[in-house]
Amino acid sequence: MRWFSIPKMAISLPLAVAAACVLVGINETAYKRSVDALSSISEAQQTSSELNKLLQYMLDAETGQRGYLLTGDARYLEPYQLATSNLNTNLDTLRRLYMPHPEELAGFAMLSRSVQGKLAEMDVSVRLRKQGNDDAWKFVLTTDVGKEQMDAIRNQSYQLIDVSRHRLSSGQSQITQSLQLSRIGIAIVAVIGLLAFYMYLRQTNALKAVDQREQQSLQRERDLLGQQVKERTATLAELATHLQQVREEERGHLARELHDELGALLTAAKLDVARLKSRMGSESPDAVQRLQHLTETLNSVIALKRRIIEDLRPSSLSNLGLHASLEILTREFGDRSGLPVTTNLEPVELDESSQLTVYRLVQESLTNIGKYAQASQVTVSMQNYGGHISVDVGDDGRGFDSSHFSPSGHGLTGMRHRVEAAGGKLTITSSVSGGTHISAVLPTSKPAASAT
Ligand SMILES: Nc1ncnc2c1ncn2[C@@H]1O[C@H](COP(=O)(O)OP(=O)(O)OP(=O)(O)O)[C@@H](O)[C@H]1O
Ligand SMILES: [Mg+2]
Repeated sequence: MRWFSIPKMAISLPLAVAAACVLVGINETAYKRSVDALSSISEAQQTSSELNKLLQYMLDAETGQRGYLLTGDARYLEPYQLATSNLNTNLDTLRRLYMPHPEELAGFAMLSRSVQGKLAEMDVSVRLRKQGNDDAWKFVLTTDVGKEQMDAIRNQSYQLIDVSRHRLSSGQSQITQSLQLSRIGIAIVAVIGLLAFYMYLRQTNALKAVDQREQQSLQRERDLLGQQVKERTATLAELATHLQQVREEERGHLARELHDELGALLTAAKLDVARLKSRMGSESPDAVQRLQHLTETLNSVIALKRRIIEDLRPSSLSNLGLHASLEILTREFGDRSGLPVTTNLEPVELDESSQLTVYRLVQESLTNIGKYAQASQVTVSMQNYGGHISVDVGDDGRGFDSSHFSPSGHGLTGMRHRVEAAGGKLTITSSVSGGTHISAVLPTSKPAASAT
């Protein structure tokens, strides 16, 4: 699925970037064109206005000239001179405006020549009038040269004004085009942007869906693994329970064999020795002494056999019950280790397998105390609470870190397994140099789930 979404991802981003670049490009071009068009419009407007001014100045100069010629009143010379001086400035401005437009310069040059000609003609007639040469200025006035020049100036100015108007309208249409271009560009880019956004959304949704599917499949795998771990743990626990049962059965079988077979042989041997001893009488004191030694050896072997059988399967448990067995166990431990053992044992009602569990727990706890605790005081208690019992073996020894006990040892692990298999709970409380307490709570009747 991912291979399918990657090309889309590769398209939407460049598409959005390309759309943004196109938008910027279009806007920049339109802006430049508009600025150029605006400056060309303003130039055309200025040119038109200067040409209109030129016509106006020409008219003012001619009116002043005529007034002076006809009346001889020097006041008419004032507007005439003002107009001619303005005309010079006006022509300079126009020349500057036409400089960047070589195609229009020829028309302006013609106009300029006509204006200069007309100004020269007016200047001659005014000078003649000032000199009092009436015939001469009247002659100049009556010729058509002045009128023709004025007509030429008017025509050439109108032509140039037309050209400026054309430039103005082309600038306006250029601005309209730029605006149109921007409009179309923005519309296209908006569409591309929307398309890129749509593709981005689709691709994000696709990625989300893929992610969800991956999460779900991971969760399924985790659940499956969790289930497998649970099943294996349950199988292993069952196996361990079974092994412990088999072990106890084997120990029981071995104890019975030792008791019945070896016990019978040893008893027979002891009887034979006793018979031999009585037959010998006082005939051979040396042989009697040796037989006496043999009897003692046989007694030691019988005692050893009893200890081994007791260790394999405490006969006291089936013969005397848990309470008495624990009394014996703790007393023997106290005798062996020389430690004072305080007991507080209440009689309890437990099935055979739970009794063995409690017995083994106390046995292993006492063995550990003897091996590691370096204690000066040991307490063993068993309380009956009706529905359940509690067993506690405590010492005031050096203790240990109960969160990290020896991985090589199986005593505490086996203890926990036995208690839990019997439907109970084991708690180990220990701190370095703070002593150790091994406590178990067991139901008096085995729960149905664990009863097999
Ligand atoms: N009463 C105690 N005081 C101090 N340390 C203890 C006591 N009981 C157990 N330990 C510590 O806990 C460890 C684990 O005990 P556990 O009975 O599980 O194994 P083990 O005695 O070493 O070997 P195993 O019981 O299999 O012969 C011991 O090695 C010891 O360090
Ligand atoms: Mg141990």
